Amino acid sequence: MDNQSAHGMWSSRMAFILAASGSAVGLGNIWRFPYLASDNGGGAFVLVYLACILAIGLPILFAEVLIGRHGRKSPINTLLGLSRETGHSPLWAVIGVMGMISAILILSFYSVVAGWTLHYAWLYLQQLLGGPGITDGGATFGGMLGSPKTLLIWHSVFMVLTIGVVAMGVEKGLERSVKFLMPALFLVLLILVGYGVSTGHFGKAAAFLFTPDFSKINGDVVLAALGQAFFSLSLGLAGMMAYGAYLPRSVSIPQAGVAIAITDTSVALLAGLAIFPVLFNFGISPTGGGPGLIFTSLPMAFADMWGGIAYGLAFFLLLMVAAWTSSISLLEPPTAYLVERTRLTRANAAMLAGLLVWAIGIVTLLGFNVWSEVKIGGKDLQGAIEFVASDIMLPLGGMLIALYAGWVLDQKLTRNELSQLSDGLYTAWRWSVRVVSPLLVLLILVQKFSG
Ligand code: TRP
Repeated sequence: MDNQSAHGMWSSRMAFILAASGSAVGLGNIWRFPYLASDNGGGAFVLVYLACILAIGLPILFAEVLIGRHGRKSPINTLLGLSRETGHSPLWAVIGVMGMISAILILSFYSVVAGWTLHYAWLYLQQLLGGPGITDGGATFGGMLGSPKTLLIWHSVFMVLTIGVVAMGVEKGLERSVKFLMPALFLVLLILVGYGVSTGHFGKAAAFLFTPDFSKINGDVVLAALGQAFFSLSLGLAGMMAYGAYLPRSVSIPQAGVAIAITDTSVALLAGLAIFPVLFNFGISPTGGGPGLIFTSLPMAFADMWGGIAYGLAFFLLLMVAAWTSSISLLEPPTAYLVERTRLTRANAAMLAGLLVWAIGIVTLLGFNVWSEVKIGGKDLQGAIEFVASDIMLPLGGMLIALYAGWVLDQKLTRNELSQLSDGLYTAWRWSVRVVSPLLVLLILVQKFSG
């Protein structure tokens, strides 16, 4: 049981909470959550989502962090070490291998989408300075997707930003950036919610999001909520395991975990409360939104409203910052692994891993234009990569991590890592990771493959 990680350590409990919340809060919260909620019964979805976070998300979050803290290495080597230490098969390290592959795949399209937000922020900045800017959201969005050059430039800029932070290391890179970026993100979000309140449509937006329509709860809604809980809390690819490796022993995992889950959930809810009032105010229907909601509909509202250009700039910068603090958590596990396995410096390891992600990202972005005819299983290239990585590999990874924590690791070890939990809560945690979470996740997978 090491007290230190060779990669560095979070300097405080707050640093860890900010970094892990930074990972959790991302594109998933700001466009995916509001859209899923609106299409799945509003308040009913929110209720099921909260239940999923509590019953499955939190227990798996504890599991990832405690495994990471016990092993103190990149996920693959942590799992190898822990399995040896407890006399189990090294094959369990396959969780780490799968996780690393998923992280690389997810980051490859995540960065392209984050590039969209950079492009939009850039256009609004130009408009603010008197340039042409965005007049028609749909045309801007279509034009952007049709231009490999535009997509490539912003994807590259975003990858350079991500590599830069990871190259600087745990304390000087990851920790320093989130300490500045997370408060900035909250500030902008609160200003945007304030604007939402001022439109006079805040109540309608709140009702839309929070009035439960129980007749809308069905299997699909529950599964959508569960999947979103995984994606939003950054679970299933051992990313939180990597962050747990840098966590001092003195910090309470349950306490930090609850803080992370509360932060992640509130940002999702606040994002809804910032976006919907603006849409209602301009008579735009929010249903059936998806990626288009943010990139095509919102600019129409911005174009019409007072201060809309500055508002647009703030909004897309916010989205970019949220994506940035998430993307560094996706590049960290492969980088740490390369540092452990090769003689590369951290900077070179981050660059190498980042280069691979960047190259795969090019496949994604060409799928929007040059290769738009290419379909895999009825999906375009980005859709296919996203499906395999987030819809199959994340739940599978989460299930294996839960089983590992519940059945492979000694009860003494996990009890010790979660010493702050009461006996009753610890027992609840253990049953969740042994039976409840794996079973529910199995349900999602079965439904994905049978549907
Ligand atoms: N949670 C982030 C979001 O909501 C995305 C993300 C970052 C992620 N790291 C992850 C998702 C690890 C799954 C696994 O946008």
